[in-house]
Amino acid sequence: MPATEGSNGGYEVKETLKAHSILWNHALSFIKSMCLKCAVELRIPDAILSNGMAATVSELSAALSIPPCKTRRLRILLRLLSREGVFESHVNLSGEEAFGLTPVSRLLTSADHRPSASPFILMLLDHHLVDPCQQLSRWFHLADAATTPFEMTHGKTFWDLAGDRPEFNDLFNKGMASDSGFVMDVVTHIGSSAFRGITTLVDVGGGTGKTVAALVEAFPELRCTVFDLPHVVNTAPKIPGVEFVGGDMFVEVPRADAALLKWILHDWSDEDCVKILQCCKGAIPTREKGGKVIIIDIVVGAGASTQASVETQLLFDLEMMILTTGKERDEGEWRKLFVAAGYNNYKITPSIGLRSIIEVYP
Ligand SMILES: C[S@@+](CC[C@H](N)C(=O)[O-])C[C@H]1O[C@@H](n2cnc3c(N)ncnc32)[C@H](O)[C@@H]1O
Repeated sequence: MPATEGSNGGYEVKETLKAHSILWNHALSFIKSMCLKCAVELRIPDAILSNGMAATVSELSAALSIPPCKTRRLRILLRLLSREGVFESHVNLSGEEAFGLTPVSRLLTSADHRPSASPFILMLLDHHLVDPCQQLSRWFHLADAATTPFEMTHGKTFWDLAGDRPEFNDLFNKGMASDSGFVMDVVTHIGSSAFRGITTLVDVGGGTGKTVAALVEAFPELRCTVFDLPHVVNTAPKIPGVEFVGGDMFVEVPRADAALLKWILHDWSDEDCVKILQCCKGAIPTREKGGKVIIIDIVVGAGASTQASVETQLLFDLEMMILTTGKERDEGEWRKLFVAAGYNNYKITPSIGLRSIIEVYP
């Protein structure tokens, strides 16, 4: 019997149609990520900024050299991204639809006072990182915990591929440097006590040295070493007073009062994290002599106060599963690592949005 409006059958049809639309939204959500990537590649945030914080589609098309036959298509992209909060849309004094920056797209500008997040977004949405997502169901059937979807796709681990392909190495290092600029901007603004009073620091897996560059600026008396794989430190720009050392953090870490691990341990399995933490312990003095490890990473459940931030932590957990053998950890999981590596105490400060500073004492 056909369902009529108001009957229970009609209610079920409405619920089914709502569910159907939600399903379509989930299936098409990757387009949002790709539109964001496109906006960054076209440098739309910078074009809006240069136009005085808002621009019509015609102004943007002219500024970005987009041919008139694509102007209507550009509007569609801007409307989707405005709905998602990346831009905002309004009617300007001439009665035309104009698009402006929001706090989200301000992060993507390179002319703003903060380091631009654009290189990090381009790195996250690069095909090397996106393609492995296609392997997930095949990966779940694979009875081998050590092979990642990334390795199934590229035939190599993330770090080996970066060592082999200079353009991927460059894209990744620029992405990480952009994130380090952002994080250290927050750390120096909030005046974190974690770095105060330290004389020497080794940034383990420190990339091209962006974190350390901000640290020596904030704490001029601090002497720093950047320690990373040879293919990374060999391409790093020189920073006055900073030593760059190539090596393997699973073998030996250069000695210092404090060892920094920013966004390192979430790349690795528990077993590997214990080895890295033990190598760091071998590089620092006792707690009484000022020894400590400073970790900057997600602590699941800490710092995530909204529905959206809980979702971001979950997404990062999946990202780590796809790209590496690592994962995001809650406090209990972190504690187990510290105990297994022989540390005595730790302090968590959830001060960098979704990420925390964890000070770990030998
Ligand atoms: C996610 S990145 C973090 C970079 C930097 N700490 C930051 O947050 O910008 C991980 C870093 O670990 C480095 N790495 C990977 N394996 C390593 C190893 N065995 N020894 C030293 N560094 C390593 C990578 O080259 C990369 O620079």
